[in-house]
Amino acid sequence: MKVVVTGGSGLAGSAVVWHLLHAGFDVVSIDRVEPQYPLAEFRFVDCTDLGQVYGACHDAEAIAHLAAIPRPIHHTPDQVFGANIMATFNIFEAAAALRIPRVVYVSSMSVLGLPFSYKPIRLSYLPIDEAHPKAPQDAYALSKTLGEDIALAFVRRMAGALSVVSLRFPWIHTPATFKSVLTPLWDDPAGGATNLWGYIDTRDVARACRLALEADISGHEAFYISARNTFMKTDSASLAQRYYPQAKARSRLAGNQSLFDTSKAKARLGYEAQLSWEDYEWT
Ligand SMILES: NC(=O)c1ccc[n+]([C@@H]2O[C@H](COP(=O)([O-])OP(=O)(O)OC[C@H]3O[C@@H](n4cnc5c(N)ncnc54)[C@H](O)[C@@H]3O)[C@@H](O)[C@H]2O)c1
Repeated sequence: MKVVVTGGSGLAGSAVVWHLLHAGFDVVSIDRVEPQYPLAEFRFVDCTDLGQVYGACHDAEAIAHLAAIPRPIHHTPDQVFGANIMATFNIFEAAAALRIPRVVYVSSMSVLGLPFSYKPIRLSYLPIDEAHPKAPQDAYALSKTLGEDIALAFVRRMAGALSVVSLRFPWIHTPATFKSVLTPLWDDPAGGATNLWGYIDTRDVARACRLALEADISGHEAFYISARNTFMKTDSASLAQRYYPQAKARSRLAGNQSLFDTSKAKARLGYEAQLSWEDYEWT
């Protein structure tokens, strides 16, 4: 299968490119910046330009769409919203025009409104599953939420000729960034609360994207995808009770179990996290 990976030079995109190549896919990586390590065929493409997207995707059989400004903190809100929405629209417009049957849209747990909301987010229950209400406030969360709506609109327009899998990831890390960014939060649980102490290893992101490319799915389906645990050593039940006391407990939380319920992803995609910070080399 020939797959175009957008954002292939980025943190998650480069892991997706590597994984798909090793799984035997024919991969074209597109990005507006060059990859640090060229792994696959690469094309300079700004996804906010529809003509460039058409050119890059003309012979693709699937697209994994990761290109985005991944947080609303280093760009102005209009830059984040404008770039993310335009890129996502163009990917789906090209998929429709070129009759590309499968798009994997990399969404985010930010559809909940977390972690960049202006006002506190009231969660209805924990662990979070796909039925939990979405509540975006900031430009990034809004762009990811509307990105899923764009996906659904194109699925509707293509009436059976396009299926889309949206993957809602928590904070994405490598072992190195886990150690530098997340271990300091072991002693600062409040610092991780708006992320629901959630994380995922880039290699599990890549595996989830491959499973989503291969899955027998029609229409549009969204999934929460996460590591099996939080990035904390503290029990999840006590974190939930302390920082989200209004959220109803949907089930008993064991140890540092993730606050994202990935059972839909297990049932429909065959996804189960393989990597945990508890298995990283700590020397
Ligand atoms: N980093 C996280 O914790 C996190 C969590 C959940 C979801 N996500 C999503 O995962 C995806 C990848 O995030 P990341 O952390 O690897 O970010 P990243 O910034 O490392 O990679 C994003 C890549 O997209 C490229 N890009 C951005 N806009 C583009 C455009 N218009 N045209 C072409 N290329 C463009 C950038 O140059 C970059 O290489 C994003 O869609 C992000 O929203 C990230």
